[in-house]
Amino acid sequence: MTVLLSDQRTVQSAEDVVAIRQAVRQRAVELGFSLVDQTKIVTAASELARNTVQYGGGGRVTIDAVENFGRRGIRLTFEDDGPGIPNIELAMKDGYTTGGGLGLGLSGARRLSNDFSIQSAPGKGTRVTITRWR
Ligand SMILES: Nc1ncnc2c1ncn2[C@@H]1O[C@H](COP(=O)(O)OP(=O)(O)OP(=O)(O)O)[C@@H](O)[C@H]1O
Ligand SMILES: [Mg+2]
Repeated sequence: MTVLLSDQRTVQSAEDVVAIRQAVRQRAVELGFSLVDQTKIVTAASELARNTVQYGGGGRVTIDAVENFGRRGIRLTFEDDGPGIPNIELAMKDGYTTGGGLGLGLSGARRLSNDFSIQSAPGKGTRVTITRWR
């Protein structure tokens, strides 16, 4: 996989979440994503950014335009140095929340992506990487 363009941003506030949504949308447009696919990756980005702010205590996102065997896509890596997730399988379940949310953010982001991976452990922070291919 080749990284064509890479952009790193801070994820600390609600304003940052809005800016990340816009940056991901712009990247998706540049890569020729359909409107439906733009919305999928933007929605997934939004959920992961909100989690980074709300549970991770803030962090950063890397927005990459990538290419693999001629296919282009967007890869997003959200990282924080927050408390981490003790039980990832449980956190991935629809409806599981520790913050009074709907518990649909992580599971939704996985459904909206083509590739999804999460690394997290108590005291070690959280990293979520998703890719959506055109
Ligand atoms: N970056 C993170 N750091 C620590 N815990 C996290 C992080 N992201 C998610 N979690 C944990 O995983 C749970 C599930 O996250 P998810 O996004 O699916 O639901 P939610 O944020 O609680 O609600 P919703 O996103 O639907 O408003 C959270 O309630 C939280 O306990
Ligand atoms: Mg959430």
